[in-house]
Amino acid sequence: MDSVTRHILDLSRRGLLRGATAMAALAATRPAFAQRVAPMPVFQSDPFPLGVASGDPWPDGVVIWTRLSQDPLGDGGLPPEALELRWEVAEDEGFTRLAGRGTVLARPELNYSVRVEVTGLRPAATYHYRFIAGGVASPVGRTRTAPAVNTRPAQMRFVNAGCQHYEQGLFTAWRHVAAEPDLDFVFHYGDYIYEGPANRERSGNFPAIRSHNSPAVETLDAYRRRYALYQLDADLRAAHHAHPFLVSFDDHEVDNNWAAAVSARVGVSPADFALLKAAAFQAWYEAMPLRRAQMPNGPDIIAYRGIDWGTLASISVLDTRGFRDDQPCGDRVKPVCEEVSNPAAHVLGPAQEGWLFGRLAQAEAVWSILAQQVMMMRRDVGGADGDDQPRYDMDKWDAYPAARTRLLNHVRQARVPNLAVLTGDIHTAWAGTLRPDYDREGPAVGVEFVSTSMSSAGDGREIWAGPQRALDRNPHIAFFNGRRGYTLIEADERRMETRFRAVPYVSRPGAPLVDRARFMVEAGRPELIRLG
Ligand SMILES: [Fe+2]
Repeated sequence: MDSVTRHILDLSRRGLLRGATAMAALAATRPAFAQRVAPMPVFQSDPFPLGVASGDPWPDGVVIWTRLSQDPLGDGGLPPEALELRWEVAEDEGFTRLAGRGTVLARPELNYSVRVEVTGLRPAATYHYRFIAGGVASPVGRTRTAPAVNTRPAQMRFVNAGCQHYEQGLFTAWRHVAAEPDLDFVFHYGDYIYEGPANRERSGNFPAIRSHNSPAVETLDAYRRRYALYQLDADLRAAHHAHPFLVSFDDHEVDNNWAAAVSARVGVSPADFALLKAAAFQAWYEAMPLRRAQMPNGPDIIAYRGIDWGTLASISVLDTRGFRDDQPCGDRVKPVCEEVSNPAAHVLGPAQEGWLFGRLAQAEAVWSILAQQVMMMRRDVGGADGDDQPRYDMDKWDAYPAARTRLLNHVRQARVPNLAVLTGDIHTAWAGTLRPDYDREGPAVGVEFVSTSMSSAGDGREIWAGPQRALDRNPHIAFFNGRRGYTLIEADERRMETRFRAVPYVSRPGAPLVDRARFMVEAGRPELIRLG
């Protein structure tokens, strides 16, 4: 039987191949590294249902990504061999002025995802890219390279966003991100997927407006299908097609509130959790436009990295989950226990903290941006029952005050220029100032902007008693909003302007975009000035 006939037969038999037993048998009889390139199968449907994406721009290039599939919520529907795609990067949307082209293998080992680290591009330039498989072209993506080293662009413009629970809201805000003109990039701080089970009526405390595709995710296969479910959403795909992303992960890419080698679930052994992390990181890597430096090694991954925007901004993407000490005092919101005063406590872990401190001390750019996950500024949320005892969220930097003080003292002592910390995770928007010593409300050394969620926690409200109490108890916090949306940041060498953009509802389509607040920070003065 010739190979083309065999692959057509494979396609027609793919129903028979479903199931772990069949896949395991295939894996056992094939080399782990597929050298042989199979002829492209005859596609039964669009081979690019998950669209395209780009990410991690450098001055000379950017990562472009896609994933081939014939059955993204099922077994993928492709022969278990490497398939060769063509890729093209062009100056124009019509692909008449090509800036790069080549071929790349979509391997079954990486779920037929491909990432090309394109080089040879011009700095601070817009490009268009696409893939071609068996004569079928993918959608066209727009991307942008970083400014050249030692040059200062007049302005940068980017979005901070994350927390996109599929069941709890539509991705309307992503449609608005897609329409943002001239973005340099989108920082996605994480919670790109949620690992929980399918819910038809209620999803956590919120109405389920649509349903997950499986029980709680615990296998590589299930993680892969969960990413596919999210990426089949046209609004999310539109945002990827429009802008490059810097992606990080938070907790739900793996498991709620995990910390380094410790699952927050009761009774999960470290060995079992390592397996879960290995599956989660592989699926994350496969689904994201990441460089090969971020390829996981089993349960280990180096996701923290630096991206420079010429001499305008030094961006450090942080991993605040993978190397932290376990949440003290049993996690959750509560008064501090003795563990919180541990002077050796870590959010970043020694290696990442050392890397960050070195990077910050050497930063010569105007803005030092930390793109990270969990709230860094102090937030004493008090008690609902009226007692005056301070209470903190033990999943945030508040639970590791020694680590926060180390970082912010370093910022002060090393004269790190213009610290701006970008955060997410808590499904509400906040703005405030960062101080090494909150007990004495000492001088601020930076500002923090916390993005609300794109869809997690449903329609939301403007404000309610709990966050009002936090505003009252924390004079360094200037703003709260409880709607869905994202943060748009524009910076030049004189000022950074941040807009908290919101959608009034995510439970039905068509929500407009409204601005809830606008803040300005002047270079050299870590203070928030409200503009609107
Ligand atoms: Fe979240």
